[in-house]
Amino acid sequence: MQSKDLLQLAEQFGSPLYVYDAEKIQSQYNRLSKAFSKVNKLRINYAVKALSNIAILQLLKEMGSGLDTVSIQEVLLGLHAGYEPEKIFYTPNGVSLEEIEEVTAMGVQINIDNLSILEQFGTKYPSVPVCIRINPHVMAGGNANISVGHIDSKFGISVHQLPHLVRIVENTKMNIVGIHMHTGSDILDIEVFLYAAEILFDAAKNFKNLEFLDFGSGFKVPYKKDDIETDIEELGKKLSKRFNAFCVEYGKELTLIFEPGKFLVSEAGFFLAKVNVVKQTTSTVFAGIDSGFNHLIRPMFYGSQHHIENISHPKGKERFYSVVGYICETDTFANNRRISEIKEGDILCFRNAGAYCFSMASNYNSRYKPAEVLWINGEGLLIRTRETFEDLLKNQIPLPVTIATV
Ligand SMILES: Cc1ncc(COP(=O)(O)O)c(C=O)c1O
Repeated sequence: MQSKDLLQLAEQFGSPLYVYDAEKIQSQYNRLSKAFSKVNKLRINYAVKALSNIAILQLLKEMGSGLDTVSIQEVLLGLHAGYEPEKIFYTPNGVSLEEIEEVTAMGVQINIDNLSILEQFGTKYPSVPVCIRINPHVMAGGNANISVGHIDSKFGISVHQLPHLVRIVENTKMNIVGIHMHTGSDILDIEVFLYAAEILFDAAKNFKNLEFLDFGSGFKVPYKKDDIETDIEELGKKLSKRFNAFCVEYGKELTLIFEPGKFLVSEAGFFLAKVNVVKQTTSTVFAGIDSGFNHLIRPMFYGSQHHIENISHPKGKERFYSVVGYICETDTFANNRRISEIKEGDILCFRNAGAYCFSMASNYNSRYKPAEVLWINGEGLLIRTRETFEDLLKNQIPLPVTIATV
């Protein structure tokens, strides 16, 4: 996508605006498939949480993707987008047995990540095929909030608890068809994946009826020009070879599953916001935009660095800016960032705005959530309208007149 297209979309649909480039999503999907082309049975389950607009789900469905979901609502979105239940994988954490039962009844593959639910579920439904989420205790991931494999993590069943796990499976005679792990996001070093894979292979040997191994996700994507990223091609080469060898050892051709979010949609996303005010203080120059952490929380939440460009005046002299939002608290997108000279009314473009951006947006400060546009075949398709005052009021119930007037 080019800056001129983005500017035109900001003009047409207003700001702030999320734009997603369909071609980039498709090329990332193809890149991952190609990297693992030596594995006969490969399945890519897109992690819905990253960006859950149903048009994006439909786009990925067309490519042959399955879905990775973490809540019953994400399952419902997937079904609504036209996915067969068998193409949906459900990996909840800390949800009730009732929710898991409801999802099971929909025909979706469930993944259980604690011994308590495993025992209850296995006792009640011994014949339902179940996947188990293992925590391999591999410390990986960009920062503590997105690293989920460590010893204090709430995710998965500790690999050290395997003897207890196996006992539950034997006692209930439940049907374990898959083993899963996901150690975190933004993992750069492919050795981490390969090391964790060995732990998964070892764990897998305890179960005789496996159909698949799910290696989760966590691939690091580049955030700016020349940034480092997970070497997918190298990982594909090494892990495929090891996976195929494991299948021979196991005596059955298993399916290899990945569930990428960021890898598929992060770089495809652009967040466009207009500069309301340029404010010079004694220490800095603020560029205040018509948005805030209510629309894009990652910089405040994770300290993530989204590259920012002034697409209205890309060739101007570069100056240092602190880019801030309009929320009533510290609301900083970037500090001391070199950006070409900003004038009020300019459109700033935030890169890597596809994953965990709109999906984490809120109505804080009673602001409307932005519109979303899919850039496909050279045109911008509106895939979500900007919210209105009616959306803010929806579900709210005013006090009855008798009470309100007392
Ligand atoms: C279980 C699980 N699978 C997949 C993902 C997707 O990870 P990523 O966006 O890094 O690809 C996540 C992210 O939190 C996850 O928790």
